[in-house]
Amino acid sequence: MEIIVAKSAGFCFGVSNAVKTVNNLLEKQKEPIYTYGPIIHNTQVVDLLASKGVKKINDIDQATPNGHIVIRAHGVTPEIYKKILDKGLILEDATCPYVKKIHNLVREKSEEGYKIIIVGDKNHPEVIGINGWCNNKAYIADTVEDIEGLEPSDEKVCVVAQTTITKEKWVKITTELKKKFKNLLEFDTICSATSRRQNEAEEIAKHVDMMIIIGGKSSSNTQKLYDICKKHCNLTYKIETSGDLPPVDIKKIKKVGISAGASTPDWVIEEVIKK
Ligand code: F3S
Repeated sequence: MEIIVAKSAGFCFGVSNAVKTVNNLLEKQKEPIYTYGPIIHNTQVVDLLASKGVKKINDIDQATPNGHIVIRAHGVTPEIYKKILDKGLILEDATCPYVKKIHNLVREKSEEGYKIIIVGDKNHPEVIGINGWCNNKAYIADTVEDIEGLEPSDEKVCVVAQTTITKEKWVKITTELKKKFKNLLEFDTICSATSRRQNEAEEIAKHVDMMIIIGGKSSSNTQKLYDICKKHCNLTYKIETSGDLPPVDIKKIKKVGISAGASTPDWVIEEVIKK
C-alpha cells in the first residue's frame, strides 16, 4: 500500500507559535498560566498542557491577577484586551499576524466609513474577534443565501474573509456582492497556509482510493479539508486520532492519502501513518 502524506499537513505557523508561547511559559515556570479558550482545536494537545498545569478559561474573571494569559492564534476583540489589562494579568499575545492584519484592516476601513462584511462562520472565535475591531457592526455571511437580504446600494462596502474559508466560497459570495455594491473593496484574507493545504489535499484526493483527514472535532479548517476531499474521493474519512480509523477492507485499497488540519500535532499524524 502506498501512503501519500501532504507536505502541508499539520501545524501552521500561527498555531505552532501559540503552542510555543505556552511551552515557553511552562519552561520558565511562569505560573499561573491561562489560555483564553483552548489554545488550539486539538484535544490531545489541550489535555497534555492541562496535565502540566495550564488552565483554560472562558472568562477573564476566572484568572487571578499577575497570572500570564495567552491569547490564541484566532485573536480576540478589543474588549478582551481591556479586560485583561484591567484585571492586572500579563498578556502573552499569540494572535496570528495574518489575523491581526484583518483586525487592523476592518478597524481602519470602518473608521473610513465602510460597511464591513466578513465571509465566514459567525460563531467562530476568529470571526467574533474580527467583528470586535469594527465595533461588532460587521455583516457576517457564510453562504450566498446569507447575503440575499442585503439591499443593493452605493454605500462603501469592504469585504474580508475568515482566514480558513475555501477560495470557492470566497469567489461565490464576492461575485454576488459585486452585483449589489458598486463601491466594493475586496480583501481576500484567506491565509496562504490554508489555501496551500487545501490545494494539496485536493490534488492528493483526486489520485487515491482512500483519503484520511486528521484533526480536532471542532476544527473548522479540518472540516473544510474533509469537504474538499470528499468531492474527489468517496472514501474520505475525518478522524481525530489513530483510534478513529475506519474499519475498511484495506485489501481493496492501493493508495491512501493523508492530510491534517492546522491544529494537528506531528505525533498524532505519525501514529495514524504507523497504524
Ligand atoms: Fe494563522 Fe493561517 Fe494558521 S491565519 S493561525 S497561519 S491557518
